[in-house]
Amino acid sequence: MTPADRIEELRRLIRHHEERYYVLGDPEIADVEFDALMRELEQLEAEHPDLASEHSPTRRVGGRAAAGFATVEHALPMLSLDNAYSEDELRAFDDRVRRGLAAAVQAAGEVAYVAELKIDGVSIALTYEDGLLVRGATRGDGVHGEDVTSNIRTIRAIPLRLRDGVASRIEIRGEVYLPRKAFERINREREEIGEPLFANPRNAAAGTLRNLDPALVAKRGLSAFFYQVVGRPEGRPLQRSEAAQQSDVGADLQVGPATHASTLEMLRSWGLPVEPHWRRCAGLEELLAFCRGWHDKRRTLEFDTDGVVVKLDSVANRSLLGATSKFPRWAIAFKFPAEQKTTRLKKIDVNVGRTGAVTPFAVLEPVSLAGTTVSMATLHNADDIARKDIREGDVVLVEKAGDVIPRVIGPVLSRRPSDAVPWQMPAACPRCGAALHRPEGEVVWRCENTSCPAKLQRGLEHFASRSAMNIEGLGESLIAQLLERRLVTDYADVYGLTAETLAGLTSTSVRADGREIQRRFGEKNAAKVVAQIERSKTNALWRVIYGLGIRHIGERAAQVLAAAFGSLDALAAASVDQLQRTHEIGPVLAESVRSWMDEPRNRALVERLRHAGVRMEAAPEERARIAPEGPLAGRTYVLTGTLASMTREEAIAAIERLGGNVAGSVSRKTSGVIVGADPGSKAEKARELGVPMLDEAAFLKVIRSE
Ligand code: IVH
Repeated sequence: MTPADRIEELRRLIRHHEERYYVLGDPEIADVEFDALMRELEQLEAEHPDLASEHSPTRRVGGRAAAGFATVEHALPMLSLDNAYSEDELRAFDDRVRRGLAAAVQAAGEVAYVAELKIDGVSIALTYEDGLLVRGATRGDGVHGEDVTSNIRTIRAIPLRLRDGVASRIEIRGEVYLPRKAFERINREREEIGEPLFANPRNAAAGTLRNLDPALVAKRGLSAFFYQVVGRPEGRPLQRSEAAQQSDVGADLQVGPATHASTLEMLRSWGLPVEPHWRRCAGLEELLAFCRGWHDKRRTLEFDTDGVVVKLDSVANRSLLGATSKFPRWAIAFKFPAEQKTTRLKKIDVNVGRTGAVTPFAVLEPVSLAGTTVSMATLHNADDIARKDIREGDVVLVEKAGDVIPRVIGPVLSRRPSDAVPWQMPAACPRCGAALHRPEGEVVWRCENTSCPAKLQRGLEHFASRSAMNIEGLGESLIAQLLERRLVTDYADVYGLTAETLAGLTSTSVRADGREIQRRFGEKNAAKVVAQIERSKTNALWRVIYGLGIRHIGERAAQVLAAAFGSLDALAAASVDQLQRTHEIGPVLAESVRSWMDEPRNRALVERLRHAGVRMEAAPEERARIAPEGPLAGRTYVLTGTLASMTREEAIAAIERLGGNVAGSVSRKTSGVIVGADPGSKAEKARELGVPMLDEAAFLKVIRSE
């Protein structure tokens, strides 16, 4: 046997045993025997560098990425799933599916589904070219994700090479997750070294996938399951609306399987891990039985699941139903009902938010609920507490569904201590002592002191957070110390911090039992934080806009504004009118930006940030990258004739607000022609080309229902 043949044989053998171990959980050989195969391969590859390949199992863990992850565009948007929270909602889904199909093909009756467990992990899209893994990307916002290939390659359940016979370019989607055991092990290790604990396996998986060091990722023990194949039409990425027309089994697969069940079998035959408990169900009753069965059985699984994903089995029927801009109409996630427990409410405390809103929360006797230990829960607002008559000392019913923050449902009156008294909102802010106010007609109490340290604390936490300026290490406890020592009095002061200043401070982490551990910050950590602060100066403009914490301006709005205005100066100079003319920016957001910019203190902050060296302009890619979003995204309409209920401008504004475009002439690509009174030749053209026409009533329905 030539070295080349032996190398090939070893690679196949190793993959075979990886699959037995990591996919099937049923190894055929002992670990030492596996290690021996690996060593032999390493040795042969070292002796024959010309035969080395990056797709060899010896090369799973590559070098550390220097900078962050590149942004990649998905060939087809990664849609999400609609949810059903009860059996009735699942019945309603089945009804919608059957009615939708009956309208299209006149065939009512039972419809076959595939039920799969919903894996509580992180969405992932793999690209294989000629059978070789070339890319792994996170879902991101559905259109753009992060290229995390180097980390994906370390997941031993994922083949670097598919079994023979898979040609061309294919995208496979599924979920990366952290098995419960690995999660517990990681948290134990983190506790020992005083690192903050991960709240649940999903957070740990998400955090791990975004780690820049593949060697660390390899040690964490991530795994994956796959459930979808999408073909990649060559050329430009598709718009959401076009994507909705595409079936999920690829256009460039020569013969795609006709059913979802056979797709899953196909994925498995290629060597990909598929969650094995899926079932084909002949109709609604079988589906319901599957969901009921897994309600308790799910605890026996080695991964977290928060429901069952129900998918229409017939691929042809899926295309008939299509998708909305967010969800396929042929699938739904049935969520297991929230878990409830009773525990003692030790104390009702209040939290002062970034905007000064004072919100009560419950401090609980720790209780284990849906896989985590819960010691705090939300309590909405003071009115709600009064209405439910929740008192300190009560035994309360607590609920937690999936990733939702636990909440107090109400007191168990029969177990109320005799000395419990109704709760009252404190009269003064617990942080600065200013009197609390409740504006007329609002439910929320506020601290109106503009220099309240609690507001600054929350504001800074937001500014530094991963989704805003992404300054790793600048978290709650460090910020609290900086404020306490008056080392920081606004966001711009962050940029004056030095490693020497930080090195003397302490960091706090919370153990699983709620106890806090204090550690000195140390020079190495201090230097890391300062490097992060420095790096954040060159962040994309939208991160700065979002980080400022302007009311109602979320990540998406910040991205839209950055793309539309290109610089903070241009944004600051924009009138409410100009703001409102921006795609997706309505009057409330426009007003909010304007009034924030009109506040002299805020303008001064912007100047100080500029002075500190924070970039205030968008790079050209940032301006170009933003794809329209909204229910009408990707659709183009043409208007003809006069509408009775609105002007032409108003109609255009309504379409654009929902992400659609308005064009001047009709073509085959036009999504619809809106026909008012006395239409012109455009209506005729639409008829000729078979473009859908909407009268005013139908148009109003579109813009109101979307
Ligand atoms: S199918 C277009 N199947 O749940 C349909 N998703 O809440 C794409 N998920 O984004 C999704 N297990 O990340 C599907 N068996 C499963 C799943 C699953 C987990 C995730 C997926 C999706 C999210 C929606």
